[in-house]
Amino acid sequence: MIPVPPVLALLCLTVVSVILTITPVSAWRPWPNLKPNSSDLLYSGSKKFEGSSEFVHLRYHMGPVLTANITVHTIWYGTWQKSQKKIIREFINSISAVDSRPPSVSGWWRTVQLYTDQTGANISRTVRLGEEKNDRFYSHGKSLTRLSIQSVIKSAVTAKTKPLPINPKSGLYLLLTSSDVYVQDFCGQVCGFHYFTFPSIVGYTLPYAWVGNSAKLCPGVCAYPFAVPEYIPGLKPLMSPNSDIGVDGMISVIGHEIAELATNPLVNAWYAGQDPVAPVEIADLCEGIYGTGGGGSYTGQLMNTHDGATYNMNGIRRRYLVQWVWNHLVNYCTGPNALDQ
Ligand SMILES: *[C@@H]1O[C@H](CO)[C@@H](O)[C@H](O)[C@H]1NC(C)=O
Ligand SMILES: *[C@@H]1O[C@H](CO)[C@@H](O)[C@H](O)[C@H]1NC(C)=O
Ligand SMILES: *[C@@H]1O[C@H](CO)[C@@H](O)[C@H](O)[C@H]1NC(C)=O
Repeated sequence: MIPVPPVLALLCLTVVSVILTITPVSAWRPWPNLKPNSSDLLYSGSKKFEGSSEFVHLRYHMGPVLTANITVHTIWYGTWQKSQKKIIREFINSISAVDSRPPSVSGWWRTVQLYTDQTGANISRTVRLGEEKNDRFYSHGKSLTRLSIQSVIKSAVTAKTKPLPINPKSGLYLLLTSSDVYVQDFCGQVCGFHYFTFPSIVGYTLPYAWVGNSAKLCPGVCAYPFAVPEYIPGLKPLMSPNSDIGVDGMISVIGHEIAELATNPLVNAWYAGQDPVAPVEIADLCEGIYGTGGGGSYTGQLMNTHDGATYNMNGIRRRYLVQWVWNHLVNYCTGPNALDQ
């Protein structure tokens, strides 16, 4: 549960009541209960375990899910290298690739496809890259709030030259901030989140996610396990598969948010928990789990490249480490690299 920031009080009453009643956005850290001195390291809550079915009551709350071909419109906020954009674009393109070697990113998406809406229609198999927008000059500064994020999206969809298309039904808006940008609650509470834009700010209700590059601010928190927190002696970082710790760390967060946007775009579809203000969604349930046996402080069984980089799935041309997601048919987290399938 993320406290409502004071700045929201300035908004008109209807917007405030919407925020107060539906509130957050799923927030995500790869290892959310990592604390310097906590037994949470080992037992970070029942939901962290690969097979903890009896504790989880994931339910469908009748809202829409993304059943039409999904298009991901990316906003590159701040300073991005070509090589960084490539790693991320290829990940998104890998989601519905037909020919990558198993275990694959498209195999990972199969668990997401198991979710349906009221009519029984499944989540779309197709996820493709849409238009992109560069916000090179930090249009809203180097420190963004949850609310100014919506203004960044507004700027992108209303730009005079090449605005992003408005696609409320099957478009996802992915705001990626470079490593010199701070976003409210980044590092302390979250590495990414998703929600939808307010018509009063953006003019439309658009599902969006934000994910930040944590390389400078908190790699040990948000790019775990490719960086580790300093306060844990003896913990060694793993080598990242695309030689960019910040971006390789973002990949799993992007996967997390896209999976949740697809199954819970307006925060009224698939989630667990009694409290709609703090929904626990399909990727939240599997935080920190990347392979068989994962849970607590253990990532699960992973794979290594010849040069020692760690990954758990293949994309089109690259390898990635992506957390698993909840499978509501079997009631545990599943992924393409599971040893028992
Ligand atoms: C951490 O926990 C141990 C055992 O409970 C305790 O002895 C130690 O003082 C704690 N350290 C800090 C920094 O709180
Ligand atoms: C959805 O994507 C599939 C696979 O790429 C394509 O064959 C189909 O024509 C698309 N449908 C629409 C409505 O764009
Ligand atoms: C659609 O969802 C149903 C119910 O979860 C599942 O049994 C079926 O395999 C899914 N279809 C696809 C193509 O994933």
